[in-house]
Formats: sequence, C-alpha cells, structure tokens
Amino acid sequence: MEADGERRVRYVLGFAYRVTRRYSLLVSLVALVIWIVLLLVFFYYTLVMKGFIDYLVSLLQATKAAWFHGILRYALILLGLWALKYGLNILGEYLLRLTGLAALEGLATEFIRSLAWARPSKLPERGDIVGRFMSDLSRVSELGGFLASLGVQVARIVIGSVLLYVLSPVLFAVTLIIVPIYYVVFRVSSGKLAIVSERERQAFSRLSMVFREFVEGILHVKALPRMRSYLSAVSERNISSWGSRLRSVFFYDVFFNQSFNSLYDVVRLIVLIIGGFLVARGETTIGSVIAFTNAVYNVFEPIANISYSFAALGELYPYVKRVEEVLVLEPEHDTGERLGRVNSIKARDVVVEVDGRVLLNGASLTVRRGNVYAVMGSTGAGKTTLLLTLIRFYEPSKGEIRINDHDYRAYSVSSLREKIVYLPQQPLVLRASIRDNIALGESLPDDEVWRALRLAGVDFVASLDEAVDPSKLSDGQKQRLALARALAHSPEVLLLDEALNAVDEQTEARILAGLRNEVASDRLGAVVIVTHRSATLSHVDYVYVLENGRVVCDGEPREVLRKCNRTELQV
Ligand SMILES: Nc1ncnc2c1ncn2[C@@H]1O[C@H](COP(=O)(O)OP(=O)(O)OP(=O)(O)O)[C@@H](O)[C@H]1O
Ligand SMILES: [Mg+2]
Repeated sequence: MEADGERRVRYVLGFAYRVTRRYSLLVSLVALVIWIVLLLVFFYYTLVMKGFIDYLVSLLQATKAAWFHGILRYALILLGLWALKYGLNILGEYLLRLTGLAALEGLATEFIRSLAWARPSKLPERGDIVGRFMSDLSRVSELGGFLASLGVQVARIVIGSVLLYVLSPVLFAVTLIIVPIYYVVFRVSSGKLAIVSERERQAFSRLSMVFREFVEGILHVKALPRMRSYLSAVSERNISSWGSRLRSVFFYDVFFNQSFNSLYDVVRLIVLIIGGFLVARGETTIGSVIAFTNAVYNVFEPIANISYSFAALGELYPYVKRVEEVLVLEPEHDTGERLGRVNSIKARDVVVEVDGRVLLNGASLTVRRGNVYAVMGSTGAGKTTLLLTLIRFYEPSKGEIRINDHDYRAYSVSSLREKIVYLPQQPLVLRASIRDNIALGESLPDDEVWRALRLAGVDFVASLDEAVDPSKLSDGQKQRLALARALAHSPEVLLLDEALNAVDEQTEARILAGLRNEVASDRLGAVVIVTHRSATLSHVDYVYVLENGRVVCDGEPREVLRKCNRTELQV
C-alpha cells in the first residue's frame, strides 16, 4: 500500500514537472526570485526586531540617554522593512497563483485539442469527459505551481533555519527533534488520503454520467412518471454514495491538517519553556526568544506545507489520470494526399471489429459518381457502421476500401471528411446565427449560403443573421439546417444516415429531387441514403440491403423489390 502511494506521488510529480516546463516555467522562476528576496528581508527584519526588544529591555534596567531617538530609529527601520515585506508578499503570492492559471489555460487548450483530434473510436464516455473538464482539470492545474511552491518552501526552510541558528543554536537543536515526527505523520496520512480520494473520483464519475443521462432525457423524465421516479432514485443513490466517499476524504484531510497545526503549537510551547530557562540562566536574551518563537513558524509551516502537498500529490493521482487519459488520446494522423474529386468509392469484403465484436462481416459496396444510392436493412444490420467506416471512424480489420482506385488511407483524413460528408440522424445545430451555423466561420458568399439553404429545403429562415436557438427548432428543421451546412462546403459525396427521417415525405421528396439534380449536373458526385422508408427508393438509382454486417441483396430498386422478398421494401 505504501509503495503504491509512493509510486503515485512520483507519477504526479512527473506530471507536475512536464506541466511546469511547458506552461508555467517563466512565472515560476520569477515567483521564486521574489520569494527569496522576501525571505532575506524577513531575515533582516527579525534580527532588527530582536535588537529592538533587547534595547527596550535594557531601557528598564538603566535610564539611557536619548531613548526617544533610539526607539524612533528602530521604529522607522522596522516600518520600512514591513512595507517592503508587504509589497513583496503581495507580488510573490500573486505570481504563485499565476503559475496555476498558466497551467490551467495551457491544459484546457490541450484538452480540447486532444479531443478534437482524437481517433473517433478511442473517445472515452462522453458524459464523463465533461466532468473531467469541469472538475478534474482545475484541480490538476494546481500542479503548474507545485514546483515553484516547493522551491519557495525549501528556501523558507533553509533561510529560516539559518535565522534560527543565528538567534539561538540551542533552541534550534530543540526544534530539529520534532522533524522526524512530522515525517511519520506524513507517511501515514498521505497513502490513506490518496486511496479514499480515488474512490471519491470514481463515485463522482458515475454520478456525472447518471446526471448527464438525466439532463439529456429530461423530456422523457417529464413525460413518463415512472422514468422520473426511476432516474431520480438512481441519481439520489449516486449522490449519497459520492457524499459518503467525500466524507472520508474530508476526514483524512482534516486529520492531516490538524495534526500539523497541533505539532506546530507544541513546538512553540517547548521553545518558550526551554527559552525561559536559558533567559533565567542568562544564556540568551528575551529578544532572541521572542524573535525565535516568531521565526520558528517560517521553518515549521513550510515543513508542514511540503508534507501536506506531497500527500496532496497522492490525492491528485486519480485527477491527473483522468485528465491525462484525454491528453494522451491517440491523434489521427492527418497526412497524405488531399482528396479532390471523387469518381468512385469501392468497399470490398470489409470486416470491422470493435472490442472483439464483429460489426461488419465482409460488406461490399460501390459508389460511382453520378448516382444516388440507398442502403437499407433492419435495425442493427450495420448501416451506420458501414458509412462511418467510409470516413475512417472505424478501420477495417479485413478487406479494403478504395477511392478513385487508390487505397483510401492514402488520402488525408481531413480532406476525406471534407469531401465525403456524413450526416447523422441527430443533427448538431449551434447556438449561433444561421450564417455561422452554415458557414462555420468560413467567408462564404451570401448567395451560396442561400443556395444551400434552399437545396436543403430550409423554408423557415428570413435572414442569415437570425439567431438560432436549437431548443426552439423541430427535429425536421434541425435536420435540414445540418444538410444545408453540409451542402454549403462543396462536398463530393453525401452520406445521409437517416438524416431526413424527421422531415415529412413530401418535403423529403423535394429535397431528394434537388439533390438528384445536383448529381445529374455534376455539382455533386454521389449521394448515399440510409433509410427505412421505401418511398425513398423512387429517388435512387441503386439499392444495397444489409443484414448482419454484410450486403445480402443489391440492384436497381425494382430489381431489389422483386428478388429480395423483403416486407419492408413493399411500397
Ligand atoms: N461502438 C460500438 N461498439 C460495439 N458495438 C457496436 C458499436 N456501434 C455499433 N455496434 C453494434 O453494431 C451493430 C451495427 O450497428 P449499426 O449502428 O451500424 O446498425 P444500423 O444498421 O445503423 O442500425 P439502425 O438502423 O438501428 O441505425 C449493432 O448490433 C450495434 O449494437
Ligand atoms: Mg444506424
């Protein structure tokens, strides 16, 4: 258990080092320099303070001449040093905070980039990713300031120890005895804290997934009382299990903190008692003892801080893991030729396996320029998987896919997905203007945007600057906006995966007629439509029927109707 704790601490330390080097190195170094200057000022301040107290004590014994000037001189020096300390303290603390912020900005950007470029098949569960971004990332970014803080604490211990030694070598030796006790408390608590904290993270992760389901299904939650009581009960169970995990984290956290506070108190007490003896025997001055009890804080607090922050390192381990899993997601390599015009796509005996499950089992399909295709088949047959494989969301483990008679992996992924555009059943409509929804930041001429909107059958928009509120659009309206977006960026092939199933049949017929027209005039290469509607077949040239991950029947619509004896194809 203990060795495991050490391994975690080392791991997090390595992460802190990488984050610091990448994002917060400069600000860390500046903060460290400011702190060292501050500590030297404090060193001098304490010595002056000691001199001042001893001077005041000497006034009690014999009336010194010019006492007013003596006190005034000390007062001015001490006030000047105090002001300097005050300024440096603000600056030093502020810079230390900035180290964490620099890391947060850097990590958050990296996090989003990593998600944006990750292989689609490798993405972690979606609801959980949001939790990682919202909660784990800010904890982890504290590590950007860890090395700077550690440096500051070490400097405090070193400079503070020299100061204590200068004030009183005997009292300094006494304070040293307490150090091993600190170490033992640290060892015991840190491992425990790391373990309870990991359990807490797991519970939090479950809760955030459950909560996401709750929010996404809020319509069902409202519409179905049974669903409401079921999901509420599940949420409540998860809240209370997270709460109980968090209680253990709090307990060990508090225990750890209070142990250090109490140890520090007892150190001061011991110093005062032994200092009292020394003063009585004339071996040290009152000024030294008072200055010592003040300054001992500067050695013990950093020891506590270091111990505590090493324990916190173990505690951060699960957070770092969860963030790092996203940061190290394998990116897609976007190398290769740019795909331009698409004349043909040929999939041959494609097998796709995910986690040992066969999703496509030797599927073959050909898409030629100038044609409109339908892909049909019962639910779970593999239609979506087949289309996603064409845009490399999945990689075939057997078989091949060729575009224009080249292995399709020869083309860069981004150009592949720009030219072969996949539209899912669930459209993504952004909270932005119509123009931004369609052009996505590209400077498309207005008439092109309008043309795409018309082609996609969008008849509910008056101005391109209209703000879109996705929650106020019908599913069919959203599907048409998504289609318009796809059309506006000059695609070569459209893969419509039930992407118009929320649109009524007449409107769909008009849209498909428009798309056919585009294909006929060679403005668009080809269209592949996954559909369960047999009426759609009157708009297509060729049909593939998929079953259990392979094509079981294909041909022209009439031919397929005749030879495939499938009830869902009867018009
Ligand atoms: N990421 C995945 N991991 C494991 N199995 C998957 C995954 N995605 C899909 N499947 C499974 O693969 C099979 C094919 O799924 P696919 O989504 O391609 O079917 P479909 O033909 O599009 O069905 P529908 O008409 O319902 O949309 C299904 O049995 C499904 O459960
Ligand atoms: Mg599907």
